[in-house]
Amino acid sequence: MIGNEAQDTARIAVLGLGYVGCVTAACLAQIGHRVVGVDRDEQKVESVLKGQSPFFEPGLEALIAANLSAGRLSATTSLSEALAGAGFVFICVGTPSQKNGDTSLEQLRRVCVEIAHVFPSLPSRPTVVVRSTVFPGTCEELVQPLIAESAAVVDNPEFLREGSAVHDFMEPSIVVVGGTDAAAVDRVAALYAPLGVAVCRVSLRTAEMIKYACNAFHAVKIGFANEIGALCSRMDIQAQEVMDTLCQDTKLNISRAYLNPGFAFGGSCLPKDLRALTYRALRLDVKLPLLESVLPSNEQHLQRAMQMVLEAPAERIGIFGLAFKENTDDLRESPVVLLLEHLLGKGRQLRVFDPHIQLDQIYGSNRNFLLASIPHIGKLLDERLENLLAWADYLVVAQKPSPAMAAQLLVSKLPILDVTGSLSRAAQPVAVS
Ligand SMILES: NC(=O)c1ccc[n+]([C@@H]2O[C@H](COP(=O)([O-])OP(=O)(O)OC[C@H]3O[C@@H](n4cnc5c(N)ncnc54)[C@H](O)[C@@H]3O)[C@@H](O)[C@H]2O)c1
Repeated sequence: MIGNEAQDTARIAVLGLGYVGCVTAACLAQIGHRVVGVDRDEQKVESVLKGQSPFFEPGLEALIAANLSAGRLSATTSLSEALAGAGFVFICVGTPSQKNGDTSLEQLRRVCVEIAHVFPSLPSRPTVVVRSTVFPGTCEELVQPLIAESAAVVDNPEFLREGSAVHDFMEPSIVVVGGTDAAAVDRVAALYAPLGVAVCRVSLRTAEMIKYACNAFHAVKIGFANEIGALCSRMDIQAQEVMDTLCQDTKLNISRAYLNPGFAFGGSCLPKDLRALTYRALRLDVKLPLLESVLPSNEQHLQRAMQMVLEAPAERIGIFGLAFKENTDDLRESPVVLLLEHLLGKGRQLRVFDPHIQLDQIYGSNRNFLLASIPHIGKLLDERLENLLAWADYLVVAQKPSPAMAAQLLVSKLPILDVTGSLSRAAQPVAVS
């Protein structure tokens, strides 16, 4: 069954007319493309062919009806009909949870096998666009081998929210297109040109991962706001006022600050204040599992770094950075101190350089702390970076270096383990077109 069929070489077949597929099909038609939606569920297909939405979603029914009568949208249960002449196949089938938490790939596997059966009858291979949420590696390891090596596979995750899905498509927060075939990525990115948005062109695995990263981030944001809200209400504080004020800070709070994967946090404030917050909440009988998990998460992250350094093929390890971050000489709760103590305990030979911590130049509590509390670390300090680089056969970057020092580290030609990620960040900016 197929209605208002438009024979056009740039036609798009959308497989799966669920929440994502139906919105994708109607919206792609609305921005000028010729779209055929496919579903094995006859009721959904019939519903679209009658100009009705198969489910409630604000604005969707009007879009379906308008594009159906304009001849840009159609629907069918026949995959081969939909694929004939299609330049793109958008896969929007479900990837529901299994009992163990993993995603079920049954619908995806089946639809790929069906596409592969139709492909030999087509004069040219359409670009396969995976819109369903799939774990990184799925496109490479499952979709590509199943459909055919000759077809390009691109991941274009969907970020719509049910209830505002049409609006989210038309005014997207982000459009991500990932793939190894640059021409295919360009073709898919070009479909969104009428929206006038910059498309993030990334690798296939990054595109798959971004969807999970975004959803995890959103869930963490909600959990954070709710835990702060729960504590506020227990203490008779206006939670909304707290969060509204928090959101006023667009430099540190609602910004990309603190969102770079790197080394564990430390210092005199974050660990101390998190401890106090969770301790006081417990005393008030308010459980805050998300906030309580942050320090253990940080410790786990430090453990990973310790393990990486221990596994490094190194005899003499030079450590760049001792304070908990760059541009300070504050040693309180520096994760580097814990890292060094762990490595010393494992018998490693170490020396340390920190541009702001030199025994003859630091005073007061920091000097006392260094000499009295961690004299074993104080003894490892090198006064000059050149000395450290000449002595070491392996370098661990534990603090973001200044551009000049980064250049000095890189020309040393020593093998480098950069636990801060800052050197690689400088070398690999994110590609956004
Ligand atoms: N619902 C959301 O808000 C949302 C948002 C972003 C991403 N996603 C992701 O998008 C994907 C689809 O989600 P959904 O909520 O639209 O799922 P859904 O279950 O509502 O729709 C899936 C549709 O695919 C059809 N289908 C399955 N196998 C088929 C086949 N072989 N041939 C033809 N049709 C077939 C089903 O009949 C169904 O109508 C999932 O991976 C989901 O995680 C969902």
